Amino acid sequence: MKALILVGGFGTRLRPLTLSVPKPLVEFANKPMILHQIEALKAVGVTEVVLAINYQPEVMLNFLKEFETKLGITITCSQETEPLGTAGPLALARDKLIDESGEPFFVLNSDVISEYPFKEMIEFHKAHGGEASIMVTKVDEPSKYGVVVMEESTGQVDKFVEKPKLFVGNKINAGIYLLNPSVLDRIELRPTSIEKEVFPKIAAEKKLYAMVLPGFWMDIGQPRDYITGLRLYLDSLRKKASTKLAAGSHFVGNVLVHETAKIGEGCLIGPDVAIGPGCIVESGVRLSRCTVMRGVRIKKHACISSSIIGWHSTIGQWARVENMTILGEDVHVCDEIYSNGGVVLPHKEIKSSILKPEIVM
Ligand code: GDD
Ligand code: MG
Repeated sequence: MKALILVGGFGTRLRPLTLSVPKPLVEFANKPMILHQIEALKAVGVTEVVLAINYQPEVMLNFLKEFETKLGITITCSQETEPLGTAGPLALARDKLIDESGEPFFVLNSDVISEYPFKEMIEFHKAHGGEASIMVTKVDEPSKYGVVVMEESTGQVDKFVEKPKLFVGNKINAGIYLLNPSVLDRIELRPTSIEKEVFPKIAAEKKLYAMVLPGFWMDIGQPRDYITGLRLYLDSLRKKASTKLAAGSHFVGNVLVHETAKIGEGCLIGPDVAIGPGCIVESGVRLSRCTVMRGVRIKKHACISSSIIGWHSTIGQWARVENMTILGEDVHVCDEIYSNGGVVLPHKEIKSSILKPEIVM
């Protein structure tokens, strides 16, 4: 089977992290977002993944080459010269997606995290016999997403409305599709949206089916959702494979610590924390609801909550970093500094406190 991952877009909502690497390569729970997806695809027998990309393909491919051999999966790029939206890239990659087998293929948004129940989806798709399957999930704020109105018993979709202004329902498109090759005949090679131009038509012909996604789901393309997504992901990891989570008196709740990270005496870490490779956390540090990327040093008695600390940054002693502070790569926060929601561009030194949420350039 084949799969296409929509990797376009500049990831502006996840800046300053995406100033250093393309969004799909930003680590989530110590692993680049896109690897969570590729590994799950591989596990259900996908042999070839096409990345639909519109900038920096070299960066992606160089990085992923290593995993091609490790995972035994083919990864190729289909590069747009202009952004083709969420459907146009499928037309562009047409020849890569269809072969004599006539099998359906997966399409994924690159920024969604879940347990990826692909196996269940394949069974669902076979059973309904329609043209396309999509995963849906319930959310509190449906207007940010594509809303799906469906027949509860069969999953047949009556209506698909992208980002509705008025309430139509609370089941939303999770950005995970399984499509028959015939769907490609509906898509022209031009900038076009699968949500606005393709799904509504298939739904009108009663050939679009939706399956309610079991387990958690989150679009982690914005800092707040990224942090919520980490909580959900670690909760699910606790249920499945709790041995991967840190244990001991330093830790409360679910915490992921890379084996090469060092944790000092008297720290209190958790809940919902991920600490990346090579990090040094000195003594007496308090961390909760945060992600600390590769190579970060956190000095004595610093306190970090609800924040993301970019690669190779340092946090000074007694510093306090909180409320959706997002530090880019290689940022240095001096001793005793307070950051309340600072969004700091790469390679900066923070010498005075950031008292209210703002961007520091
Ligand atoms: N190759 C390519 N080219 N990819 C693109 C382009 C493009 O021009 N534009 C967007 N993408 C990719 C993004 O990188 C992302 O992986 C995916 O398409 C969806 O785009 P987003 O910008 O993240 O859309 P969204 O989050 O507002 O809404 C989408 O996702 C929701 C679920 O998170 C829609 O699919 C909604 O219906 C859905 O509910
Ligand atoms: Mg998104």
